[in-house]
Order: sequence, then C-alpha cells, then structure tokens
Amino acid sequence: MNLSGTTAVVTGSSSGIGLATCRALLDAGAVVFGLSRRETPIAHEHFRWIQADVTSDVAIDEAFDAVLAQFGRVDLLVNNAGFGFFRDIELIDPAEWRRLIDTNLTAMFLCSRKVVPSMKQAGRGMIVNIGSVAGKRGIKGGTAYCASKFAVNGFSESLMEELREFGIRVACLNPGSVETGFFDHAGIEPKKFMQPDDVARLVVSLVELPDGMLPDEMTVRPL
Ligand SMILES: NC(=O)c1ccc[n+]([C@@H]2O[C@H](COP(=O)([O-])OP(=O)(O)OC[C@H]3O[C@@H](n4cnc5c(N)ncnc54)[C@H](OP(=O)(O)O)[C@@H]3O)[C@@H](O)[C@H]2O)c1
Repeated sequence: MNLSGTTAVVTGSSSGIGLATCRALLDAGAVVFGLSRRETPIAHEHFRWIQADVTSDVAIDEAFDAVLAQFGRVDLLVNNAGFGFFRDIELIDPAEWRRLIDTNLTAMFLCSRKVVPSMKQAGRGMIVNIGSVAGKRGIKGGTAYCASKFAVNGFSESLMEELREFGIRVACLNPGSVETGFFDHAGIEPKKFMQPDDVARLVVSLVELPDGMLPDEMTVRPL
C-alpha cells in the first residue's frame, strides 16, 4: 500500500511504539489519527489526537465514528495499545487481569470491527496488530500478558483468513523487547532492547509491501 494520502488510525499513540509509528506513517504521507488516554505529543498538520480509553466500547465507537465521518474510510489500523505485568498468579487481582485482557485483546476486536466495513467497501485495507514474542512462548509470571498476546496471534490469524478474500491484509507483528515505557510497570527488565523507531519502520515496511503480498506474521528480536 502506498501510504501517501491514506487514512491511518494508531491506538496507543502517546508513547513508545505507537508514537513512533504515528511519526513514521506521517513521514510516509498518511493522515494519522492517534488514540490514547494521555495526550499524544505530535504537532503535524496531518495528525489528529483523539482522547480515548480503548477499554471503553463507547469511546472506541465515538472515535472511529468521528474518523469515518471526516474521511469516509480507514485504510490502515494499527492495533498497538497495550501494557503488561509479570507477577505470580496468586498476586494478580481479577480486576487487573480483566483490564489487561480488555486493553490488549478486546480493544483489537472493538477497533477492527469499526474499520472492516469501509475496507470491504473499498476492496482494500490493512490491519496491523502488535503482538509480542510473549505471544509465541510462555514466560514466568506472564500468565495474563502471554495469554493476551497468544490470543492476539489467534485473533490475527483468524481475521487474516476472514478478510483476505476482500483484499484486506491482516498482519501480526511480534516484537521482542523494545525500549519504551512498557517496562516502567512491567516488573521485569530485559538485557537487550530494540528501539521504537526501528519497530515503527518495520510496521511501515510491512504496510508498503505490494498489495498482492500478505505478510501475515512476523517476529523480530534484539540481536
Ligand atoms: N516494549 C516492548 O518490549 C514490547 C514488546 C512487544 C510488544 N509490545 C507491545 O507494544 C505495544 C505498545 O507498547 P510500548 O512498548 O510502546 O509501551 P508504552 O510506551 O507504555 O505505550 C503503550 C501505549 O498504549 C496506550 N494504552 C495503554 N492502555 C490504554 C488504554 N486503556 N486506552 C488507550 N491507550 C492505552 C498508552 O497510552 P495512554 O497511557 O496515554 O492511554 C501508550 O500510548 C503494547 O501492545 C505492548 O504489549 C511491547
């Protein structure tokens, strides 16, 4: 997809991978809407921040309705909003578990269902879901986070199979450790990191592949 003049929505735009992805998409010529609770620090004529908590069905519906009212369709959705914690199971509060699943998984469903109708009508579009290497293998203390990211992989593969006949591509990008605010509250500290700008460049590269190519899943790790 040539991103010039396209309309993109990125969830979790206020920091880390989402913020870097918004910037990279703007550089590639897209009009970008960023969704987050905290303000997204981008001043660019083609960027709009919409304050939204992605655990709220109503907030998501309102945000996407506003984008669709203005631009008619969304060409690219990057489902990125998420967080993680690593802790012994008996120390996980059920409300925290539900909040993590709502943020990392259910929000992907809620956002995707809002963009698919206009993508089907256009006969094109792309959804990039940010999974994790924690969605490929279990990690000590990661019952909640790994469960959510394994589910993201299953959700993505199923949606990929569902939408490919409509010309819509669904990809799941599974990064290893990236140097972001994620680790401020995660309860683990990795030894090696990738940089969010590099992950964002990879997102843009996947999107810019020829429309006939469907990159369904990719894992990327620090060397
Ligand atoms: N960092 C890593 O090593 C790594 C590795 C693999 C995958 N990931 C995944 O990458 C994604 C981005 O994380 P990051 O590393 O860039 O961490 P980050 O810097 O903490 O960014 C997380 C983003 O998600 C947003 N977010 C969280 N809860 C939200 C909510 N309820 N509603 C709206 N937005 C919400 C945050 O915005 P607000 O707080 O402003 O709402 C923020 O913009 C996550 O899905 C994470 O699981 C990260």
